[in-house]
Amino acid sequence: MITRRGGLIVLEGLDHSGKTTQAKLLVSALAKRGANVVPEPWRFPDRTTQIGKMISSYLTNDADMDDRALHLLFSANRWEKVDRLRQLIDRGTTVIMDRYAYSGVSYTAAKGIDLSWCKLCDRGLPAPDAVLFVSLPLKLAASRGTFGSEKYETIGMQEQVLKVFEKLSTPENWYQIDGSGDVDEVHEKCIKVVDDVLGKISDQPLGELWQ
Ligand code: TMP
Repeated sequence: MITRRGGLIVLEGLDHSGKTTQAKLLVSALAKRGANVVPEPWRFPDRTTQIGKMISSYLTNDADMDDRALHLLFSANRWEKVDRLRQLIDRGTTVIMDRYAYSGVSYTAAKGIDLSWCKLCDRGLPAPDAVLFVSLPLKLAASRGTFGSEKYETIGMQEQVLKVFEKLSTPENWYQIDGSGDVDEVHEKCIKVVDDVLGKISDQPLGELWQ
């Protein structure tokens, strides 16, 4: 019997845009319908690995690091999980992911580092079937929760990051989601896109990023 592959759905956006909440809601909605989906969204950076711990100490201002070295760590943090990711998708499990290589490129390039160098490190990773970019006026994001507690959570940095995200959007798989409504409204927009995308991937092989 041929198993239909799972989907790879990525949520991206600026800090405090609501991605994490929406990623969790997507997993619950799909699971409730009996879909084959991971029990929790995958999240990058994955701060539980050795590499993730180094990244985390940078983000919480406990350690400083060269920008390119840090970028390589963020990328390595994805590559160290790629076998498991491919395995899940090949076996028919849909993976919902909270941040991926688009954050990787946008946050580093926002510091003035060459965009193509940034992209090269993640080239060949599984390409998402959809990127849901949750957008929110910056002032609103900055008024949420603990904004300001980590390294990149400043208005100036977020403005630069947004400019790079905009350069990465491609018509094939990029969906702009207005994140300014209430949580349920935003969820409705996300699940609609996910349903459409998952309905179409049946025979398409998983692509590779930035080849
Ligand atoms: P988080 O708040 O979603 O855990 O992400 C932590 C920060 O790390 C956030 O400001 C975005 C940034 N980031 C990068 O700079 N590069 C990356 O590759 C990823 C995944 C996140």
